[in-house]
Amino acid sequence: MRVIAISNQKGGTGKTTSAVNIGFGLQRLGYQVLIIDMDPQANLSTAVGISMDMDKNLYHLFKPETEPEEVMQEVRGVKIIPAGLELSLVEGEYAWVRDKEYMLKNIMTRLQDFDFVLLDCPPSLGLLTLNALTAANEVFIPVQTEFLALQGMSKLLETLEYVKNKLNPDLVISGIIAVRYDKRKVLNREVVAKLELHFKDKLYKNYIRDNISLAEAPSFGLDIYHYKADSAGAADYRQLCLEIIERSKK
Ligand SMILES: Nc1ncnc2c1ncn2[C@@H]1O[C@H](COP(=O)(O)OP(=O)(O)OP(=O)(O)O)[C@@H](O)[C@H]1O
Ligand SMILES: [Mg+2]
Repeated sequence: MRVIAISNQKGGTGKTTSAVNIGFGLQRLGYQVLIIDMDPQANLSTAVGISMDMDKNLYHLFKPETEPEEVMQEVRGVKIIPAGLELSLVEGEYAWVRDKEYMLKNIMTRLQDFDFVLLDCPPSLGLLTLNALTAANEVFIPVQTEFLALQGMSKLLETLEYVKNKLNPDLVISGIIAVRYDKRKVLNREVVAKLELHFKDKLYKNYIRDNISLAEAPSFGLDIYHYKADSAGAADYRQLCLEIIERSKK
C-alpha cells in the first residue's frame, strides 16, 4: 500500500486538485484508491460532490468508537474519507495527548488494503499535516510555477526532515509536481528550471498546465475525467499518473 501525503504549507498550490485527479486517474488505471481529506475547509470533499451535511467525517474517525465504514464514502469508484469543519478542533483537543502525531497512522491499521491512499493536507504544518506525514510513506509536493513558488519550500523541507528524524524515518519525497505551467511564460520556465536543479529527477516530467477546466470541475462536484475528458487538464493528470506508476517500477 502506497500512502502518499500531498503537502505544501503554502495555500492554493494545487494540492486538492492533484489529490482528486491523481486519485481518480489511478482508479481509472485499475488501482484501488482511497483519498482522505485532511483539510477542515473540506475542499476536496466538496470538489468530488460529497455534501457537507454528512454526519460523520474524519474528525469522528479520530475517536475510537467510530468505525471506518461509518465515514467512508464511494464516489465513482474511489473511496473517500471526507473532512468537516470539526477537524479544526483537532489541534486543540489533542494538544496534550501523547502520540498525537500517530493518530492517523493508527486509523490506517483499521482500514482495508488499498493500492494507493492519498492524503490531501491543509495549507499549514500543524497537527493534521504532521499526522498525514507520519502515516505516509511518501510525499508529493505540488508547486505552482509562479512567482514566490519556491518561497517557503525550505520551511517545508525542514518540517519533512523533522518528521523523518522524530516520527517517521521511512518518509521520502517521491515527487515534485509542477502545476499551472504555461510554457509561454519565461517565469514559469525559470521556476521549473530551478526545481529541476534542486530536486533533479524527483521532479515529475509531466507538468500540469494551467487549464480552466481543472478550475471549473470542482464546482460540478466532478474530477477532470468526468467533467472534461478531452481537456488539457485531463491529459496532463493522465500522463502524470502513468509516470507515477512507471517510476515506481524502477
Ligand atoms: N492546473 C490548474 N489550472 C488552472 N487552475 C488550477 C490548476 N490547479 C489548480 N487550480 C485552481 O487553483 C486554485 C487552488 O488549487 P487547489 O485548491 O487545488 O490548491 P490547494 O493547494 O489545495 O489549496 P489550499 O492550500 O487552500 O488547500 C483552485 O481554484 C483550483 O481550481
Ligand atoms: Mg486544498
